[in-house]
Amino acid sequence: MLKHGMPLNLNAWIDKVRDNLRPPVGNQQIWPDANLITMVVGSPNERTDFHDDPFEEFFYQIHGDAFLLILDRGKYDRITLREGDVFLLPAHVRHSPQRPGENTLCLIVERSRPLGALDGFEWYCANCAALVYRIECQLNSIVTDLPKLYNQFYDTSAAARTCRQCATVHSGRDANSWLSAVLPKTRIRP
Ligand SMILES: [Fe+2]
Repeated sequence: MLKHGMPLNLNAWIDKVRDNLRPPVGNQQIWPDANLITMVVGSPNERTDFHDDPFEEFFYQIHGDAFLLILDRGKYDRITLREGDVFLLPAHVRHSPQRPGENTLCLIVERSRPLGALDGFEWYCANCAALVYRIECQLNSIVTDLPKLYNQFYDTSAAARTCRQCATVHSGRDANSWLSAVLPKTRIRP
């Protein structure tokens, strides 16, 4: 027999998990064992990684504004997600969600990854936008796997974080330095 749960009220659920929508956790998944990963992401957050998802991602910016940094053909683009916007990101488009505002909320839906569908996490040069470092992995949990992946990059030597194209060293854990170098040269779209 097929079974199903009952609808939940999203606002009431958000109120219940609100403490975990702030740093250092930042996101919470509604139905942990489902094949659709449905999660709410809070703020503030600062990150420098670009995600290469083997599938599409759906965004609904519930409260406040945020933006996605997109690395497109060697250039940084900035796509604003305004409160109320929905957005469908195609598979493999490299994106780095930025949520500088306090208490913003975004609903994100992704597919769970079948065995063999690998995610990539990449870091790019703040000076010339060349790829500096890439980690590929079979993602099991978006909530618990990501911090470990980030640390894997942060704990590398400066040599491993050095751009092979222009020799600029990626600032690693210091997201602020990287963002302040990148944001001024980012193309704002639309
Ligand atoms: Fe570079």
